[in-house]
Amino acid sequence: MLKSLKLGLLSAALLAAQPVLADGGFGLGRAATDAEVAAWDIDVRPDGAGLPEGSGSVFDGEEVYFEKCAVCHGDFGEAVGRWPVLAGGYDTLTSDRPVKTVGSYWPYLSTVWDYVHRAMPFGDAQSLTDDEVYSITAYILYLNDLVDDDFELSKENFAEVTLPNQDAFYMDDREESPVWSNRERCMTNCKDSVEIVARAAVLDVTPEDAAARKAKEAKGAAAEEPKAAEAKAEPAPAAEPVAVAAVAELDPALVEAGEKAFRQCKACHQVGDGAKNRVGPHLNAVFGRPAGGLDGFRYSKAMTAAGEGGKVWDDATMAAFLAAPKKVVPKTKMAFRGVKKEKDIDALIAYIKANGG
Ligand code: HEC
Ligand code: HEC
Repeated sequence: MLKSLKLGLLSAALLAAQPVLADGGFGLGRAATDAEVAAWDIDVRPDGAGLPEGSGSVFDGEEVYFEKCAVCHGDFGEAVGRWPVLAGGYDTLTSDRPVKTVGSYWPYLSTVWDYVHRAMPFGDAQSLTDDEVYSITAYILYLNDLVDDDFELSKENFAEVTLPNQDAFYMDDREESPVWSNRERCMTNCKDSVEIVARAAVLDVTPEDAAARKAKEAKGAAAEEPKAAEAKAEPAPAAEPVAVAAVAELDPALVEAGEKAFRQCKACHQVGDGAKNRVGPHLNAVFGRPAGGLDGFRYSKAMTAAGEGGKVWDDATMAAFLAAPKKVVPKTKMAFRGVKKEKDIDALIAYIKANGG
């Protein structure tokens, strides 16, 4: 061991003494081959530069996605457990808990293609063919409601797709920006002394202290408790159709408020004329229907079981579910934390009914 240490020191000394050769190198190693360079040079730019030939459809993408991605990211990009969510999250970026997804947050489609091609599936990176990456990217667009189910993505139409949040990304060219200003950069001995001018807590990037957070959570749980209990207490075999309030009886102001609150649902649900299944089932005629009862939608086992166990959507069951989806239907795949404000729930129910729900 001592011997090799000595050798190491010796070669370090030799290295230091090695003269720079005429070609600017040190006479070490060899030039990378074209194949090696090509294997590294896989970045794709927003305008599509760097993309290989190829194409893939939403339809094909769904199949590959189910096979290789859904275990972690969920069938609909809603995520399993704490793996990243890939779909939805619209209108949440300025909220307390932004849901940053490909659809709500990412700037360019090239970011998606490049990332999936480079890094996914997690643990088996770069195992996908180019066509598979095209088709999965198309499917992720579909999950985010950005293309229809007959869409096919190819090198040719790639640059035509823009993601909704693109314009929120821009170069920070302010004079005072530490990153982009044209200030001359110092590369050696830049500061005589280092002074700490700010800490993360002050910059407000770390959550409030743990005690405050816990108190908040406890308060939230207390508020939800009565609802969960209500849901449990409800008699199970209430399968006969529930009377639905006539649309005329609905308070227009409430319906209007509900339209706003429904933005939380829009990434996944449609209701009204022409509503289609998206990440979640369409909500037309949902009231009076057993949970998980819409033909042609792939519910979770949990939701199907709830319906078979007698859960029917009425004002009370819907309110409880919307307040705390995972408490009322544990293991539902509706990746939604619940509606925070009580008054939004009444408004949502009115809005859904007013639109044929
Ligand atoms: C074993 C679990 C697993 C599988 C399977 C998997 N991923 Fe991921 N995925 C992850 C993890 C973990 C991250 C976060 C990685 C990180 O931040 O470094 C991630 C991140 C992502 C992201 C970025 C999400 C974001 O907003 O930051 C995308 C897009 C993505 N995966 C797509 C896919 C696709 C497409 C597949 C299938 C080809 C796939 N993943 C398969 C675990 C997985
Ligand atoms: C991130 C996507 C997502 C969001 C956001 C979301 N949902 Fe869902 N929702 C789903 C999915 C997926 C299901 C199917 C759940 C299952 O099968 O377990 C579902 C199921 C439902 C059901 C049961 C439907 C049935 O036929 O059984 C209702 C009702 C519902 N959602 C209402 C809402 C409302 C109202 C909102 C907004 C406050 C909302 N959801 C937000 C994805 C979402």
